[in-house]
Amino acid sequence: QNQACDAVRKSMKFFPDWPNKGVGFQDISGLFLSHEKFNKVLDYYSYRFNDVDLIVCLEARGFVLGTAFAQSMKLPFILIRKKGKLPGPCYRESYKKEYGADEFEVQENILSGITPKPGKKFHVLIMDDILATGGTLCASIELVKKVLIGNGIKDFKISTSLISSVKVLNGKEKIYEKYNDVSIDIINEM
Ligand code: PRP
Ligand code: MG
Repeated sequence: QNQACDAVRKSMKFFPDWPNKGVGFQDISGLFLSHEKFNKVLDYYSYRFNDVDLIVCLEARGFVLGTAFAQSMKLPFILIRKKGKLPGPCYRESYKKEYGADEFEVQENILSGITPKPGKKFHVLIMDDILATGGTLCASIELVKKVLIGNGIKDFKISTSLISSVKVLNGKEKIYEKYNDVSIDIINEM
């Protein structure tokens, strides 16, 4: 984790008062400019999350993280998108985040081709870049539960991974309070 954290700290940029006054924006885009640094993060994930069955990527930067990790681990992945982007019937969840409200969706039937391994809890990893108030992650956990149960997968475990967090907003505590069975991994807590 130390090497991954070092790579994140060296590549992340902080934008004060963006997108609104009073909000400090942590931008991880710089991580993708360095194959070596991004690899440190993926290496850490492969060590930390070696028994995952499905990856869930959150729009927008979670798409990049989740796709890269899923491909390197030869794992299937699905996308949770902002409202109105996905075709067909969708589960939907509204949420509040640090600077406004939003809605997330996942396709109801996206897991129809997935068969969990018998005798093992189906382990789902939700991936995103930043944990701030936790609104985004909460909505995602709700959607993942809905899509798993909707597709007949009842014996599951949910983990979440973030590159960085805004500690003063207590997102982690809020999630733990609501879901005592969900784990949260943050490479760079600040
Ligand atoms: C940012 C960030 C997280 C979320 C965290 O995404 O990428 O997903 O906010 O905030 P929260 O913990 O307060 O919910 P944002 O919704 O700004 O948009 P984007 O990822 O589509 O760029
Ligand atoms: Mg986001």
